[in-house]
Order: sequence, then C-alpha cells, then structure tokens
Amino acid sequence: MFKFDSTKPIIVVNFKDYEEATGKGAEALAVVHERVLKETGAQLVVAVHPTDLRGVVEAAPGLPVISQNGDSYTRGSDDEMKKTQTGRMTPKMIERCGGVGTLINHAENPRTDDEIYEIVTDFELENPALLTIVCAENSERGEAIKALCKPDFVAIEPPDLIGGDVSVTTRPEIVSDAVSRLGDNVLVGAGVKTGEDIRSALELGAKGVLLASGVVKPKGDMTPEEVLNELVKA
Ligand code: G3P
Repeated sequence: MFKFDSTKPIIVVNFKDYEEATGKGAEALAVVHERVLKETGAQLVVAVHPTDLRGVVEAAPGLPVISQNGDSYTRGSDDEMKKTQTGRMTPKMIERCGGVGTLINHAENPRTDDEIYEIVTDFELENPALLTIVCAENSERGEAIKALCKPDFVAIEPPDLIGGDVSVTTRPEIVSDAVSRLGDNVLVGAGVKTGEDIRSALELGAKGVLLASGVVKPKGDMTPEEVLNELVKA
C-alpha cells in the first residue's frame, strides 16, 4: 500500500486515455516510471485507466498505481451496502487489481459533491490506507471538498490550463490561495512540464503535482524517462 513520505514531493502522473498510455503502452510507461522510482527514490504514483489497472500493476509491481476512477458502493433503502455491485470501481475491486487508491473528480470526469463524499467515505471505511486524490477546479471548491470528506490530497487544476504549455505555477496566486485555504496536502496541476515548475509549486507550499502530457507526450526529442528524471530532481 502507498505510504506518503512528507519529506519528498509527490509526483502523480495521470496517463489519461492517451493512446500511448493505455493498454500495452500503459504497461510499458509504468515500467519506465518504476525504473525511475527505483533509481532515484522519487515519490512517483501513476493514475491509469481502470481497464489497465491490473495489467499495469503486474507489469510494474514496485510502482504505486491508482485508478483514474473510483466509485462508492450502492446501498439499499435501509442504507446497508448491497451484497453485490455491478460495474463499479469500488475500493474492493481496486484492491483486488493491486491498486493503491483512486483519483476522482478530474475535470474530464466530474462528480457531484454527494458522490465525492460517498466515494471518499467508502474508500476510507474499506481501507484507510487507500490513497484518495480529489481534483478541484479552484481552491474554493477544494476547500469545500476537504471540509466534506478529507481526502488524502486535493489537486487544484485550473481547467483552462489542462493539457496546455502554461503551468499552473505561472499563476502563483492560485497555488498560494489553495495552500492557505487547504493547508497540508495540496497538489497542483495543469501545464506542469518541468522540474522548475515543480520547484515553484513546492516553494509555494504544495506537497506535489499532478501532471499528464508533460510525461506522456514529451516535447522535442525527449523521452518520458528523460522527462521523469528531470522532474524528480525538483
Ligand atoms: O490530471 C492531470 C491533468 O489534468 C493535467 O494535464 O497535460 O496539463 O499535465 P496536463
């Protein structure tokens, strides 16, 4: 199970549904992450599509892998959890696949506050060691989510910067505001591409970053491994 080391930044790489980061591509990219983790001791976590979870865990057993989606359990009218569940990425199913947690409420897969509460609560009840990361579009929503259910991390990602080349850290007030409202355990993401971006986020008080395209689709001639080795120096 993943255990956060607060002396190191946490770098969460979201594989999204990029072609090169799903299926066999997800497994190969995870092996690269596992190698960098082993060589550098960096605190790397990858978030993969639920359909890739088991395969990635088997390909890179030394790498913490979380599901890009998580669901709560359905309940009956008596509020008892139903004995069986269908098609949901429940905490139990994520653990059975070898996953160590979930990322929810990404801008590309938004959830209501009620859903977020139920999901984080069910993960906590099932196994408090499961990692829960909840995304939020701004620090106001992040603060409300934290008050609602206390996930392990809230990841603030301004939607207009997601997938682009402008890092959230170029708007330092966003990071500072998130840290002052939420305190510990803030991640920031969107447009993060370099070790310098991560250093800026850490200097502003974030515990780490959530990024995707910077690693999955590196610019120029760089490989994902070269990018990761640059990121983990932060
Ligand atoms: O989940 C990370 C993502 O939303 C940020 O994407 O490509 O801007 O790093 P990207």
